Amino acid sequence: MNKLNIVILAAGKGTRMHSNTPKVLHEVGAKAILAHVIDCAKDLNPQKIIVVYGYGGETVRAEFAHENVVWVHQAEQLGTGHAVQQALTHLDADAKILILLGDVPLVDVHTCKNLSEQANNKLAILSFNKTDPTGYGRIVRSTTGSVVAIIEHKDASSEQRSISEVNTGIMAMPMTYLTKWLSQISNQNVQGEYYLTDIVALAVAQGIEVVAVVTRDEWSVTGINSKEDLSKIERVYQARIAQNLLQQGVTLKDASRIDVRGTLHCGRDVVIDVNCVFEGNVTLADNVRVAANCVIKNAEIHAGVHIAPFTIIDETQVGANSRIGPFARLRPGTKLDADTHIGNFVELKNTQVGTGSKINHLSYVGDTTIGRNVNIGAGTITCNYDGVNKFRTVIEDDVFVGSDSQLVAPITIGKGATIAAGSTITRDAPADQLTFCRAKEQKSIAGWKRPQKITK
Ligand code: UD1
Ligand code: MG
Repeated sequence: MNKLNIVILAAGKGTRMHSNTPKVLHEVGAKAILAHVIDCAKDLNPQKIIVVYGYGGETVRAEFAHENVVWVHQAEQLGTGHAVQQALTHLDADAKILILLGDVPLVDVHTCKNLSEQANNKLAILSFNKTDPTGYGRIVRSTTGSVVAIIEHKDASSEQRSISEVNTGIMAMPMTYLTKWLSQISNQNVQGEYYLTDIVALAVAQGIEVVAVVTRDEWSVTGINSKEDLSKIERVYQARIAQNLLQQGVTLKDASRIDVRGTLHCGRDVVIDVNCVFEGNVTLADNVRVAANCVIKNAEIHAGVHIAPFTIIDETQVGANSRIGPFARLRPGTKLDADTHIGNFVELKNTQVGTGSKINHLSYVGDTTIGRNVNIGAGTITCNYDGVNKFRTVIEDDVFVGSDSQLVAPITIGKGATIAAGSTITRDAPADQLTFCRAKEQKSIAGWKRPQKITK
């Protein structure tokens, strides 16, 4: 029996999140909790993934419209057993069924694989030992150590409550057994719910073996019920990513002060200082150094680039050996060739910069193509927007733009041109010439006095 079907239970409301967002849509590492579980399920290569949803219904479905999963609505949350019952008609009669919980984002693929492999003509449940087992279903074992039942906390005797081995909620079994057992469970318990966990006692009564696989990785089975849980899991998730980066040889000045909200690929000898956030898909090639407090999103940073503190980079390619920041902002559509220098308080948007060009201080350059070996002086602004339309600026190779200039687009500054400081350029500037456009004369007024403060 090689067929695997996975049922993800995600109908719970998540009252303790105190949020209008359905619980499973809250994020860990900028990815919805349920997305983590669906990704784990996909890694197990099942024939089917069924998600039982309820609260937040269509919002949850819409978020995962691109996923090849079957959605089953559980209108009333009458318990975990009832939830699985809703999925039965969608499951393959000859499959093994793995039950996952939609609010356990760090669920581990290898543990799940092992559990489903154990479930050949058996019921396999995943348990763990918890110092404070309050609230969990307890694994009740016989004197010989075999599992006889799971008793929910609220239904447990004080003796049973002293059991520290608890149910994670993750289990696997053949479909034939599941169908039979689910038809035999009732809601005669303290909570008036149909408990999935009651199938354990049914299996034992029917002589079907129950194996409990005990996991030591508590975080991989921890469900999220509150913002406190969410924040703790986020830290664990980030710590694991940091650990992986260290193992790959990345230098982290403080492994507890890096956040990766997506995928970060690093080459050799990458150094990352404290408080950096990486979002989406980011690549840092060999010898890249990222200083403290940078936010880098969907970016490709080529070899040898140094990024100084407080730099923000979004949808940008930075060419090899460039020097960026401090306090630079590279916005979407920006592409820098090798050896460029982008300095403090410089904002680039949708701009291409050729090899060796420099924009070192206090400038806005948007919708612009800059050639090679160009120097853009401090305080230069490309006026790319007339209030309704955007226009491009072209600055050819070897141009020198003097400080505090405005280039009013659409405009081309020809190769080798020099723009005098303080110019407002509104027409194309020819190659190799000095172009300036300022007040005609420089005047000085002798005896002029600064205004005095008026005393009342
Ligand atoms: C459940 C287990 C308990 C285990 C604990 C681990 C049962 C009866 N109990 O308890 O043994 O120790 O998980 O966290 O199974 N859900 C639905 N529909 C429902 C009820 C729940 O989809 O009608 C989903 C929830 O969204 C959640 C999961 O099932 O993802 C578990 O439900 P929850 O209410 O948290 O169960 P517990 O009482 O914590
Ligand atoms: Mg729970």
